[in-house]
Amino acid sequence: MPIQKRIITTEKLKEDKEIETTLRPLSFDEYIGQESLKGNLKIYIEAAKRRNDVLDHCLFFGPPGLGKTTVAGIIANEMGADIKFTSGPAIEKQADMAAILCNLKPGTILFVDEIHRLSRQIEEFLYSAMEDFCIDTMIGKEGTTSAKSIRIPLPHFTLIGATTRAGMISEPLRDRFGIIENLKYYDSSELQKIVMRSSKVLNVEIDEEGAYEIARRSRGTPRLANRLLKRVRDVAMVLYDGNITFEAANKAIDMLGIDPLGLDNVDNKLLDAMINRFGGRPVGIDALATTIGEDPGTIEDMYEPYLVQTGLILRTPRGRIPSETAYHHLGISQN
Ligand code: ADE
Repeated sequence: MPIQKRIITTEKLKEDKEIETTLRPLSFDEYIGQESLKGNLKIYIEAAKRRNDVLDHCLFFGPPGLGKTTVAGIIANEMGADIKFTSGPAIEKQADMAAILCNLKPGTILFVDEIHRLSRQIEEFLYSAMEDFCIDTMIGKEGTTSAKSIRIPLPHFTLIGATTRAGMISEPLRDRFGIIENLKYYDSSELQKIVMRSSKVLNVEIDEEGAYEIARRSRGTPRLANRLLKRVRDVAMVLYDGNITFEAANKAIDMLGIDPLGLDNVDNKLLDAMINRFGGRPVGIDALATTIGEDPGTIEDMYEPYLVQTGLILRTPRGRIPSETAYHHLGISQN
């Protein structure tokens, strides 16, 4: 993958994992933003604790990098529970899922990232585990008289599913989650606070203007803000006096090929294709992805939501169209 692209997409890199583990808030009091989700979860957690019960199963959806895993970690901390991490693609066979479920301790939180990628068969196997805390499994050789189905009770646990594709979760699975929350893009002042907090943890001097510049160009996404912060810190150290100011932040972010709106070259290629190749007419995701040589899933998960949120792309029943702001952003006249 070209370096430029690796730096600026919202995909989780190895470095992000390290950054996220050090910078991740451990309680809702330290967590900035997502006020409605935080308010709701605090109450549900308090109520579950008062009843001496597990928290209902939770489904978190929203674009990558907004903190679904972080929130799951905070829930585990606030419930005083263990947390086990897995993901949809990692569970290939029913036996993998059975082994995970049978080894849970009472109250454990099971976090399943990319839950929309579980196979239908494994998803169906989960239903009784979620609903009745038991699984039905076959013992003995299949097709022989000794084969029979047995019911294995499980300890009470909380499943937390995370997905970037709410639309790809089947209705029966969705119905089994008692708590469903949508994580939204952060505004610049929330991201500024996150950057100030992260700088403190990393022991870097930063002023409010420097933090705001990083925030403003991070596509509403804490993962990107923290990643940019590290690169800005490098530039501040080598080209300036080590302190992060507006000037250092602006220089470092320009060097990464991120434009004044926080858009990278893929975002700009997308807008350019919509305007110059499709002439501003409604276009579908597959045609658009093929034109710019990207995977449709990547466009749908990582690029389009932010462009729609900022009003650069408008969704119509016939497809996506570029907005007037998009023409203006690329310096192209609309007619
Ligand atoms: N680091 C990443 N996301 C954060 C958040 N929402 N609040 C505080 N620190 C963070």
